[in-house]
Formats: sequence, C-alpha cells, structure tokens
Amino acid sequence: MLLFIFLFLVSSTSICIEAILPPEPIVVVPSAIRWDADNDIIVTPIATGSYPLALEATLIGKSASNSKRVTVASYNVQLYNQSSYHFQLSTKNRDRADDYELLVDLRGHEEYRSNILYGLPNLYSAKIETDKGYYKPGEDVTVRILPLTSSGEIFTDTLKLSLINEYGFQVLSTNVTANGGFIRKKLKLPEFIKKPCTWMIVVKPYINTNVAWLKFERLIKVGHYEMPKIFIATKTESMPNPDHANLTIEARYPHGKRVSGSIKINCHGRDTVIDQGGVGFALLSFLF
Ligand SMILES: *[C@@H]1O[C@H](CO)[C@@H](O)[C@H](O)[C@H]1NC(C)=O
Ligand SMILES: *[C@@H]1O[C@H](CO)[C@@H](O)[C@H](O)[C@H]1NC(C)=O
Ligand SMILES: *[C@@H]1O[C@H](CO)[C@@H](O)[C@H](O)[C@H]1NC(C)=O
Repeated sequence: MLLFIFLFLVSSTSICIEAILPPEPIVVVPSAIRWDADNDIIVTPIATGSYPLALEATLIGKSASNSKRVTVASYNVQLYNQSSYHFQLSTKNRDRADDYELLVDLRGHEEYRSNILYGLPNLYSAKIETDKGYYKPGEDVTVRILPLTSSGEIFTDTLKLSLINEYGFQVLSTNVTANGGFIRKKLKLPEFIKKPCTWMIVVKPYINTNVAWLKFERLIKVGHYEMPKIFIATKTESMPNPDHANLTIEARYPHGKRVSGSIKINCHGRDTVIDQGGVGFALLSFLF
C-alpha cells in the first residue's frame, strides 16, 4: 500500500513537471549546407514563459580527404516568449567542407544533432532562355542562362550545360561560367533527328551534380517544319517622353487572317539592349 502511494506521488510529480516545461523543440534544418551563403535553421516551438531560453548552434565542417573537423560557424542567443525561432548560419569566406554536422543546444532540452549534411554550391536558380521554341535538326540553339545565388547575385562557379535527347541521353555537354552577366552559348543540334521530338537543355553546377534540386532545365521541340509565309508590318511613333516609343506590329497570312501567337522584340537602346518587349522602354501594342 505504501509503495502504491509512493508510486502515485512520483507519477503525479512528473506530470506537474511536464506541465511546466515547454514542449521539446523541433529543429528544422536544410537538406544541405550551401557554401558562401546563409543557411536557414528553424527551431519550434520554444515558448519559454517568463525566463529566457539559451540557444546555441554550431556548424561543424568535415573534410572527406583528411577527416578534419572545423567549426565553421556558431550562434548564441537568448530567446524570450517566441513560439519559433529562425536563424542563419553563414558559411561565407570559409573553407568549403564536403560534409557538415549541426548541433543545436536549447538549454534544458535534449541536444539536437543533425545527420551528415552535404556541402553544396550556392546555386539557387538558373533561368534558361532559348532564341526559339522549335528547331530544325542541324540548327544552332542559342541559349542564354542567368544563374543566381540565394542572395540574388550572379553565380560564378563553373556550370555544366548539356543537351539531352528524347531518350534521356546526353548528346553534348560543355563547361560554362557567368562572368558578370548572362552566359551566352550556341549548341548545335545533330542532323539525324527524324521524327519531331522534345529535347532538353540542362544546367547544373559542375561539382555535386547529382543533387536533383540543383538541376535546371528547359524543353525545346526539334523536328522538320515549314513556316507558312506571313506578312509583317510595323509602325513606330515617337511619344512625348523621348524614352518611349509606340510600336505596332501586325502579322497576317497572305489570305488576310491575323496570325496568332507571341513575338520576341529586341529593343536596342542607346547604351543598353533590352529583350522581351523592353519593360519601361518601349510601349508595345500587339494586334495579333
Ligand atoms: C514573457 O511573457 C511573460 C508572461 O506573459 C511576461 O511576464 C514576461 O515579461 C515576458 N518577457 C518578455 C521579455 O517579454
Ligand atoms: C570543366 O570544369 C571543371 C572544373 O572547373 C574542370 O575540372 C574540367 O576539366 C572542365 N572540363 C572541360 C571539358 O573543360
Ligand atoms: C499606340 O498606337 C496604337 C495603334 O496606332 C493606338 O491605338 C494607341 O492609342 C497608341 N498608344 C499611345 C499611348 O499613343
């Protein structure tokens, strides 16, 4: 009986302790650590009541070649009354480790220790534009690529640009690098393509290319085609604002019907070249 009362007391005490303590935090880490970037880590929930909670995070880099462990970044903060916390561990100006380990210590809770996180180039997006959407076999595909980092700067590491056929085979591949602007490249399509099909242009970083979400692609159609003859008329009027012009373009088939579709206009300014309708430069009227 005495033992029963004792057990009862112990269990009710632990219930009281659980009710006072905030719930065990959940730590959300990125799937990889991006080099030369801020890496976002979220801790939730961390409701602390009236006393502060100390959060300490350490990012450890590991090199595959010599198994050396280096502290790449650390973070230390006192938290009051937040329900979640979002912080950034920066790998800027540090050696690029192959793998990383993350430790998050919220005092009074179990320490969070990540599994191995890969180190990856900070390629956040790569916008790929082609001069056309439909190509004949043997034609050149003129490609422009704008690779950006997570902070919106131009990504300047080596990229691998590939042309993939309709069966998923890489037909050609080349190294490209953005130096202060767009990457411009011509890719020659082979002559032997018989049936109309869809090919793909793929851009990925040269290192760690197997990570699917560092891969950017653009589809193009390839096949023999004949363009119907069309007549195009353009009219340009100057506007009161010398930086604007009113350009009217009209395209008709020989029988008079208006052609439907989209056009690409290259506007050559005094010092600049603006593509795709020249936002802020030319006022365009499309009649088809
Ligand atoms: C946190 O919340 C508690 C309870 O509502 C309050 O007493 C305390 O002053 C708050 N602390 C801060 C730093 O806002
Ligand atoms: C492509 O770039 C990588 C890394 O800069 C280099 O190691 C490789 O030799 C290059 N390949 C070609 C075909 O130039
Ligand atoms: C531009 O030209 C079109 C066609 O002539 C006309 O309808 C339109 O009002 C003009 N726009 C301006 C802003 O002048």
